[in-house]
Amino acid sequence: MAKMAFCFWVFLLSLPILISARRSGVVSQNSFEVKKQLKQLNKPAVKSIKSPDGDVIDCVHVSHQPAFDHPLMQNHTIQMRPNFYPERVSEESIEVTSSSKSSKPIITQLWHTKGRCPKGTIPVRRTKRKDLLRASTIKSYGKKVHISTPKPRSADPGFTSQSGHQHAIAYVEGDKYYGAKATLNVWEPKIQQPNEFSLSQIWVLGGTFGQDLNSIEAGWQVSPDLYGDNNTRLFTYWTSDAYQATGCYNLLCSGFIQINNEIAMGASIYPVSGYKGSQYDINILVWKDPKEGNWWMQFGNNYVLGYWPAFLFPYLSDSASMIEWGGEVVNSESEGQHTSTQMGSGHFPEEGFGKSGYFRNIQIVDGSNNLRDPKDIGTFTEQPNCYDVKVGKMGEWGNYFYYGGPGRNPNCP
Ligand SMILES: *[C@@H]1O[C@H](CO)[C@@H](O)[C@H](O)[C@H]1NC(C)=O
Ligand SMILES: *[C@@H]1O[C@H](CO)[C@@H](O)[C@H](O)[C@H]1NC(C)=O
Repeated sequence: MAKMAFCFWVFLLSLPILISARRSGVVSQNSFEVKKQLKQLNKPAVKSIKSPDGDVIDCVHVSHQPAFDHPLMQNHTIQMRPNFYPERVSEESIEVTSSSKSSKPIITQLWHTKGRCPKGTIPVRRTKRKDLLRASTIKSYGKKVHISTPKPRSADPGFTSQSGHQHAIAYVEGDKYYGAKATLNVWEPKIQQPNEFSLSQIWVLGGTFGQDLNSIEAGWQVSPDLYGDNNTRLFTYWTSDAYQATGCYNLLCSGFIQINNEIAMGASIYPVSGYKGSQYDINILVWKDPKEGNWWMQFGNNYVLGYWPAFLFPYLSDSASMIEWGGEVVNSESEGQHTSTQMGSGHFPEEGFGKSGYFRNIQIVDGSNNLRDPKDIGTFTEQPNCYDVKVGKMGEWGNYFYYGGPGRNPNCP
């Protein structure tokens, strides 16, 4: 009897060893590939800064950034500033910062508390071994695994629910768009499953959905699989073939050329808005430089982050054919129920200011490089009982909308 118990204990004690041996077996199998990929992603740093959130920010010389791994970039001359900058034309809506619906601008990234990157370098969030090991395959790290851009109007509900991505967006189409802008408040939505995410962004789109879609995306996101935590982070994404072979988040492949030494893609944004508390919002502007054809991105009122070179996007070579603004989540339906992953603040648009997520002063850039109010704004959501969107227009907020929701609830089982 005592002997049996002993054997049992030996067995129990050795279980973790067996399990960890199996794990490390898998790891060592891939370790060559992991090292190779880390070397590809993490360029030599002039200086490294450890952020309180656990990130390491590498200050990489601007000419050593991942973009220059691209074969078509060998002879590229970095543009250190855009040739043109979209001008605000005066219409009814004027941006005023102080109002009853006041919000504080946020420009802070947490790593700034520990240092800055010198001129001539760019801050790059270091990819760690454990980041790669969370991805389904090492090569898929930093890429979107499913086609996820919503196609309003003709969206096939069967297809959209199959892909598991859900949206609540406002959009314009049917014209030529040379950029888009918005001010959106920042939240930290709860994510039910690590393989789900919640994001709020602008999409600049050209080409055909599901085939060769060209998409430039920028906003904030919470993505445990991508970053290993639940922090809200500034991000960009691009693809030129509907999420198949090209594109990635942030600087996780060669594509985006960063020139700014203050803001790191993929770094946490701080602070975030509180329910019935202070509201913090960010500005995002994406526009096409009419001279070089590159697509530029600005964060806040004065951080020009960099650009996507024109050659990346055959269907955006003249202009974009559609602009979308809003939220997206992944609903993995892990327990046969709708996910409880939140979009925006996790509250429905009806709750309004201080409680719901918003995009305000949504604007497009026209062919004369002017920022204008969008015309004929449409909205789209797969399941309004789970996540919804409500547009409006008023004084200093211009065209705006509230969006989001809690996901699973009695009307969204
Ligand atoms: C870069 O320039 C060299 C020399 O002019 C040329 O041979 C090469 O084809 C160019 N590469 C690209 C990708 O344009
Ligand atoms: C992220 O949030 C989920 C619940 O929303 C929690 O279960 C998980 O432990 C959190 N992850 C981290 C890394 O904090």
